Amino acid sequence: MNALTRRQLFTGSSMLATGALLAESPPALADETRVVRFADHWKNDLDRVWLGAEFWAGPMQDWRIRAGRLECIRALPGRTVQVLTVQHNGTPGTFSMKVRLGRLDGTALGAGQGSAGFRIGILGTLGDDPALRDYRNNLAFSGGLDAGFTAQGGLFFGDARKADPGKINLSGVQELLLELVSAPGGSPAEATLCLRAMNAVTQQILGETTLTVPQAKLTGNLALAANSGPPLGPGGKPDKTSKLENEPVGPGLGTFWFSDWSIEGSSLTQHDTQTFGPIFFNHYSLSGGILKMTAQMPPLGEKDNQTVSLEVQQDGAWSFPAGAVIHPLARTAAFRIGGWDAGQDHAYRLGYQQKFADGSTRQYYYEGTVRRDPVDREVLSVADISCNIHTAFPNTPYAENVAQLNPDLIAFVGDQFYENTAGFGTVNGPLEVSSLDYLRKWYFHGWTWRSLTKDRPSLCLPDDHDVYQGNIWGEGGAPQGPTQESGGYLMEAEWVNVVHRTQTSHHPDAWDGQPCRQGILNYYGPMTYGRVSFAVLADRQFKSGPQGKVPPTGGRADHVSDAKYNIKSADQPGLELLGEKQLAFLKAWAGDWRGADMKAVISQTIFTGMATTHGQPKGDLRADFDANGWPQAARNAALREIRKAFAFHMAGDQHLPAVVHYGIDSHRDAGVAFAGPAVNVGYPRWWHPTTQVNGRDQRDGLLGDFNDAFGHPLSVLAVRNGATQPRRPTMDFLADKASGFGMVRFNKKHRTITVECWPFGTAFGTAGAAQMATWPVVIQQSGNYARPGAAWLPELIFEAGPLPVVQVVEEASGEVLYTLRAPSKSFKPHTFAAGKHTLRISDPDSGRSQVLSGLEARAGSNGDQIKVTLSAYSG
Ligand SMILES: [Fe+2]
Repeated sequence: MNALTRRQLFTGSSMLATGALLAESPPALADETRVVRFADHWKNDLDRVWLGAEFWAGPMQDWRIRAGRLECIRALPGRTVQVLTVQHNGTPGTFSMKVRLGRLDGTALGAGQGSAGFRIGILGTLGDDPALRDYRNNLAFSGGLDAGFTAQGGLFFGDARKADPGKINLSGVQELLLELVSAPGGSPAEATLCLRAMNAVTQQILGETTLTVPQAKLTGNLALAANSGPPLGPGGKPDKTSKLENEPVGPGLGTFWFSDWSIEGSSLTQHDTQTFGPIFFNHYSLSGGILKMTAQMPPLGEKDNQTVSLEVQQDGAWSFPAGAVIHPLARTAAFRIGGWDAGQDHAYRLGYQQKFADGSTRQYYYEGTVRRDPVDREVLSVADISCNIHTAFPNTPYAENVAQLNPDLIAFVGDQFYENTAGFGTVNGPLEVSSLDYLRKWYFHGWTWRSLTKDRPSLCLPDDHDVYQGNIWGEGGAPQGPTQESGGYLMEAEWVNVVHRTQTSHHPDAWDGQPCRQGILNYYGPMTYGRVSFAVLADRQFKSGPQGKVPPTGGRADHVSDAKYNIKSADQPGLELLGEKQLAFLKAWAGDWRGADMKAVISQTIFTGMATTHGQPKGDLRADFDANGWPQAARNAALREIRKAFAFHMAGDQHLPAVVHYGIDSHRDAGVAFAGPAVNVGYPRWWHPTTQVNGRDQRDGLLGDFNDAFGHPLSVLAVRNGATQPRRPTMDFLADKASGFGMVRFNKKHRTITVECWPFGTAFGTAGAAQMATWPVVIQQSGNYARPGAAWLPELIFEAGPLPVVQVVEEASGEVLYTLRAPSKSFKPHTFAAGKHTLRISDPDSGRSQVLSGLEARAGSNGDQIKVTLSAYSG
């Protein structure tokens, strides 16, 4: 011991009062007003997996409350329960924690295997930067100092494997009282820790051990810990944690219960608002007068209340109550309310009444605003957010900057998390456990964005990592074949539906109300908001897997490395991208302009194969079948429908922010797409075009006309390659890897689309902040079908009133050439060949129309004019 005797260390602790084995009178702590006190409440909680709003379990599925105690039910290493509301602030002073514990099977603690105790000084990836530290960042990818006992009678600080056995006699001891006390050390910069073990039944002190550490090492979150493993340092890679699974550590592995966890001291900071639950977060959408909202709940118990209420404020009072039953696996409460008054903002609150073991209840509310549909505003802004590996969770500066930019709609376009998000790898079954494992990661998404999603509509499109796959070719919902590349879903259908329920049950109704193969739910369909009509696509769910369907690549079935591989030979008949039904939806959607002036497609990834370099700077690929430039024919069929609506395309996935102009037969004859940047890049990709594959070398510039990996014409309007050697501090690392934020602004008056791309770690949204080089990009709505016109129809002159929708049909083929909302009171439609055409001119919201048949499109110029008078449909 340094400056204090052991007796002094425990003076004032409550263990002294209960044990009374040290005959000293306990003086009061120096400054009672600064002392924080915290105690768990599990004795009065019902049996359930969720431990309460003040706690985060790592991982959630391995902990539960049973009979008023906390239980760690799986004998696996590094299991922790962190408290959210109390942190050690690193200042000199007092600090103590105590807990009772025993084995789940009731046997003596020395009779089995394992270790248990505390973890302190828990800091995450932002721990190096005091300004950015966040109690939530400490919940994953974090290190700390363990202190506890081992089944072999060891008491330890740090690595349990190094504990000397036999330090305490555990024979016959079924309940242990562990107390950890810290006091100032020999110098102001040091603290002395003492860990004491007592037989909780007999009150006999069994032994103790001490350690002097730098005071700063105590800063961070506090936890109970079971089965201490080798500690992970701050910034430690999360995949290392999965390697610890099932790996025996020195003391072995056991299952334990804990109770009476208390924490107190003057070195602590308490924030009662740092809680999570019981209503975790919500997402909503508003389209066509239908509000859909999904509240995300924790895993509750059988005796818990199973319903969530939704109330809306009207004339200062809460009314219009609706109830929704919580889904037993997805833990979602999904509301669907028709006849919604979209003309004004509505304050709402979600309600949940929590029950307690003593029969008491507590009512919780979660409040937000359903914004009015901004139909009259010139610009609709849509955030493009994807690919968040949560390295900098909860990305507070990022989320605050997005709030500054205040998007009208958020499109989360995939990879809302990755398999290693929140640590501990993945669990693939059984279903209840794998569902909890999924929810834990999904909760990180909601926790990051909930202050935004409660007050504006949002969409969530599950991508491959959302369903625990590095890549997915969904094959219409088929189970996975012999390999991932042969296509299909790895996880069982009910689990996939947990993903679809949590992420998409708040979407506007799916176009196809029936599920696809295996009963997997469909979510693709239309949404209209702010007079922009969106097609929400599932571009992974129906895509064919390449393996066995394309000529062998000679290596990994989805990666072509051989420069001589004939990429056209991979365009085999019958291969799907969107699938027949989804393509039919796209076709119907392209012609449906109710309530809309502009159109956009939202999907997971872009419909081209742009990235040339994958994973590492020398990872050049000839082609990647995960990209949606393949299958070529199916991709072209989709783009032909999309361009008929002059629709812009928003996506994510690539971690290579870019704006590209698609080509089908020639450069720029289809739509423009934005592959938004990743929130936190994990796997990097680059654009290093070569003459051999892309038709032009990168030394001639990264922008302009190229060919993509599949031979499609590709025009690059903006792109940002990440660094090949990113700096190491977390925030610099993410910025260097081209993480960022994308926003698309649809100007309905001027019919322009402005694409913004903001670099990670900058104050985007504030005056003077710079976007990534080559952004912003501004395109015209008409640029989304920039194929040059070859002939012209008469100029249409419209009457007063709403601008009508004009559909141009080639009479010889019967083909709809395109449909759009006329941009102004006069409009001269173009065609792609001379000859007879029909114009269907309509105001679909009032049901009036006029059909003009046999109109001659003339090459060169057409000076004719037609005055259009719409009349009611004749039926
Ligand atoms: Fe991704």
